[in-house]
Amino acid sequence: MSTANPAVRRLDDWDAERLRALRDEYDSPLYVLDLNRVRENYRRLARAFPDADVRYAAKANTLRHALAALGESGAGIECASAGEVARALDALRGVADDPGARVQYTAVNPPDVDLDTVVELWNDFSALTVTVGAEDTVDRLEERGYDGRLCVRVNPGVGAGHHEKVRTGANAKFGVPYDRATDLLADAADRGFDVVGIHAHAGSGISGDDLSAHRELVSRMGDLVRDSPVDLEFVDIGGGFGVPYGPDENPLDLDAVAEATREALGDVDARLAIEPGRYLVADAGVLLTDVNTVKETAATTVVGVDAGMTTLLRPAMYDASHRIRNLATDADGRDTVSQTVTGPICESADVFGSDLDLPAPERGDVLALGNAGAYGYEMASQYNSRPRPATVVLDRGEACLARRRETVDDLTRLEEL
Ligand code: LLP
Repeated sequence: MSTANPAVRRLDDWDAERLRALRDEYDSPLYVLDLNRVRENYRRLARAFPDADVRYAAKANTLRHALAALGESGAGIECASAGEVARALDALRGVADDPGARVQYTAVNPPDVDLDTVVELWNDFSALTVTVGAEDTVDRLEERGYDGRLCVRVNPGVGAGHHEKVRTGANAKFGVPYDRATDLLADAADRGFDVVGIHAHAGSGISGDDLSAHRELVSRMGDLVRDSPVDLEFVDIGGGFGVPYGPDENPLDLDAVAEATREALGDVDARLAIEPGRYLVADAGVLLTDVNTVKETAATTVVGVDAGMTTLLRPAMYDASHRIRNLATDADGRDTVSQTVTGPICESADVFGSDLDLPAPERGDVLALGNAGAYGYEMASQYNSRPRPATVVLDRGEACLARRRETVDDLTRLEEL
């Protein structure tokens, strides 16, 4: 692996001075996304899976710059809603010859409005693909006149991932039962759909230890391709490629995953597709936040910051640990103090980390939280009437504002008086 494109970018690899300057220019809290790193992540993954279609799972970060950068690099885009489909098509315009051919909509209990919108978009982008996870979604597409490209999501019965809440593979909500898949493929083809693929997704944030689940899922998908009554163009094995969040965690061995995938899939005639989200954007992003309060207590030193669970939900939702670095110029010379970093939201879940050994905090310090590029802004809310933060992108050395900070006016804009 070339050092020019390392397998992981750690929080310490970011230039503290640059980040402090961005905070000064664009205020706090602030998301920063480095598009060069997004492109590097894509290149590494594409190199490890040279025969696969890489479809970026947009739900990790739908920022237009991210979608366009990945589209330019050659990625397709996997979408979880009609909103994501619309945003993906928009970002791919001018980047891809046929934007529709790069877009796959994975329908999960799709609301009527999603199917209406996607079918309408399909009239203009006839090469897009719809993935169904329930037999009656096929009926609902037929009722709307859709007979385009169709993929069937199966429930592989194998789940994996960093937390119970993100393991989908064995959860009945996702996909048609494995033993119903071949009938559905045949039925959909009989009814005139252009049946092109099968899909499964085990879960999110799969680390090296979980490769056995990955193998199992892929091998079941290989069996299904071989049993399929219809010739399939692709077999999509989902996303879930994990990244290290802790300083001692190792990056995923992509070559080992690719090798395991090839072995488990066996000899199939269909093209492999993968749907990485987190892997492409996580370590390309940081969240910057100001320290506004330092409070000594018998239990701990409480460090109050201006970002909270509304800005970055993952610690509250999954007990996820995002590394924290104090960017103060003199941080290295300060004593280390055990501290709890916590936001301004009136919930005890609003904690980014407890018992952290970090430089003694001072009001006005700027902290950086790592791996904030995936499922960060995307899961942000306006709870407690907190406007969502701004996002700055770094592109070929230049910084630019990619999404402005919300204001309190934005919070009330939709209210009718
Ligand atoms: N494909 C499908 C059908 C998915 O449902 C997902 C993620 C992906 C691909 C991409 O998974 P990734 O490569 O990013 O692991 N909010 C959670 C993650 C939820 C992921 C849901 N589905 C988190 O912050 O950890």
